[in-house]
Amino acid sequence: MFRTRDLIRPTVKRITPYSPGKSSAEVTKELGIEEITKLASNENPLGPSPLAIEAMQKAAAEVFVYPDPLCVELTQALADHLQVLPENVIIGRGSDEVISMLGLAFVNPGEEVMFSQYPFALYPLTAWITDAQAVEVPAYDFEHDLEAMAKAITPRTKLIFIGTPCNPTGTIVPADEMASFMRKVPDHVVVVFDEAYFEYVDDPSYPDCLSYARQGRRVAVLRTFSKAYALAGLRIGYGACARSVADALKLVRAPFNISSMGQAAALASLRDPDQVARSVKMVAEGKAYLYEEFEKMRLRYVPTQGNFMLVDTGRDSREIFDALMRRGVTVRTGDIFGLATWIRVTIGTREQNQRFIAALAEALGEPTSP
Ligand SMILES: Cc1ncc(COP(=O)(O)O)c(C=O)c1O
Repeated sequence: MFRTRDLIRPTVKRITPYSPGKSSAEVTKELGIEEITKLASNENPLGPSPLAIEAMQKAAAEVFVYPDPLCVELTQALADHLQVLPENVIIGRGSDEVISMLGLAFVNPGEEVMFSQYPFALYPLTAWITDAQAVEVPAYDFEHDLEAMAKAITPRTKLIFIGTPCNPTGTIVPADEMASFMRKVPDHVVVVFDEAYFEYVDDPSYPDCLSYARQGRRVAVLRTFSKAYALAGLRIGYGACARSVADALKLVRAPFNISSMGQAAALASLRDPDQVARSVKMVAEGKAYLYEEFEKMRLRYVPTQGNFMLVDTGRDSREIFDALMRRGVTVRTGDIFGLATWIRVTIGTREQNQRFIAALAEALGEPTSP
């Protein structure tokens, strides 16, 4: 008799399960703490635009009808927003789904999927699912080493992921380095610029990666409504790609992948730039506050361009995680990224950041376990 395990594709058996942040409901259940400060998943606590909420309420009564499978209105609105053509746009159930589509459309078994050290979990997953080889190139002081990545390209390289800002490090790739890298990329490679945190970037050296898509380079620029637009629960993200790349992704996209509520909310959000501006301001202020507090506490941190940051607690990150959780604050442990003493914390509202700092100070004051 076969066990299910015998039937699973060998490449799927090597998958390390995704490690999500602890949900507030889990913490409440485990510890009985009602008020949780969730700084574990880079969400936006200011919440969505009131226009998006209103649009969802209207759309709710119509959910017995299948959604527009081509997302015509949203695709046009995104094309206008990004100054590309509708043909360049692909919309996914979160940018996660666009990443899956890239793997499905382009990667053959035995080919290579490349990314930098400290990757977002879906980059290696794309390689595992497609039975490709995951090629992780060591980072240079938490930044992508694009020279090393260019040198690591082989005839079997198919996808290269560049997280900019990169999750979990928060670093970006500056325009000159990106341009020099793009000159070295051969035409059998599709480059994916993952810009999930694009709206938060304030570094003037940030490149305009959309220009590569507009030029017809074989690229995909991924963005999302989950972060600055605060619609993570709806699952809606998108890619701006060379037309040939977008056409390939459409072949593997599931029909009706974007719900009608999602389409309505995303469209309405694009009409409310103030909501994004408020979130960007909150993150900029929170970032300045956290830098200052970490410096006072003499903790090393990685300056960030996202709404999250890495900080070295100097202690076992799981112990610090537990100590913070007992105080009602959830973060992400660094061990999942190979950073045993670091934690990744989302930048929240002023009150959330203050609560986190107070809890961290107390946690660091506790004796280490034997
Ligand atoms: C770097 C990066 N890319 C992509 C995503 C996926 O976002 P979503 O699927 O919600 O659009 C995330 C989410 O955390 C992320 O951090």
